Amino acid sequence: MTAFALDPRQRALIDEHDYYAAMTQGSKAERAFHPRRVALLQGAVDCGGKAVLDLGCSTGPLTLPLLQEGVDVLAVDLSAEHLQRLEAYATEQGLQARTLQADAADLPLDDDSFDVVFVASVVHLLSDPGPILREAERVCRPDGRIVVAGPWSRHPKSNVWVKTMLRGGKRPDGRQFPFDVPRLRGWLARSTMLERRLDLLLGYFATVWVPDRKPAS
Ligand SMILES: C[S@@+](CC[C@H](N)C(=O)[O-])C[C@H]1O[C@@H](n2cnc3c(N)ncnc32)[C@H](O)[C@@H]1O
Repeated sequence: MTAFALDPRQRALIDEHDYYAAMTQGSKAERAFHPRRVALLQGAVDCGGKAVLDLGCSTGPLTLPLLQEGVDVLAVDLSAEHLQRLEAYATEQGLQARTLQADAADLPLDDDSFDVVFVASVVHLLSDPGPILREAERVCRPDGRIVVAGPWSRHPKSNVWVKTMLRGGKRPDGRQFPFDVPRLRGWLARSTMLERRLDLLLGYFATVWVPDRKPAS
């Protein structure tokens, strides 16, 4: 394992959110859960020969499997430490990661420059996901695909809750999910949803959108 140039406190903080480590070296449940949700993401769109953007990539649970398949992917995250770790994992595997430290809500990237844009398990963390999803629309080619996925939940009631969420309803406890299709439709106002894939066992879903109208200038 590559040594990371991080002090122990920084490292402990990152370890907590190192989803690639969780996927490959975590508990039995994590090693089952993460590959299965990543397979759901990869199965949602064909990335072969495409220019792919992974927004909020963390330490690479999606980027690294894509790189292993030879996909051209740019990994973007706000956290330099996550990106540093992603790059180290790639190097360990003889791969070259392309990374960009940036706010996904204000990307230094050209319009229409990617065929596939992933926003996986990010939206539910934000108080206002609108700007990130508008940027996803802007940088995605008109015939491209935007995949918005997550969040995940291993709560025993997650199956009921996910079904409720997919209907656009409220949770059984009366609170609204931070992430549901009607709200996504609002944030991705210039895109059309083509498909949603749901893994009830994981309580995880991926939606696939086409940015069929250009953002207003
Ligand atoms: C829960 S992780 C998801 C990682 C990965 N996409 C996955 O599916 O496992 C969320 C990531 O989003 C990043 N993030 C949060 N807000 C962001 C922003 N405004 N711009 C870029 N990255 C952001 C965090 O640093 C973190 O690495």
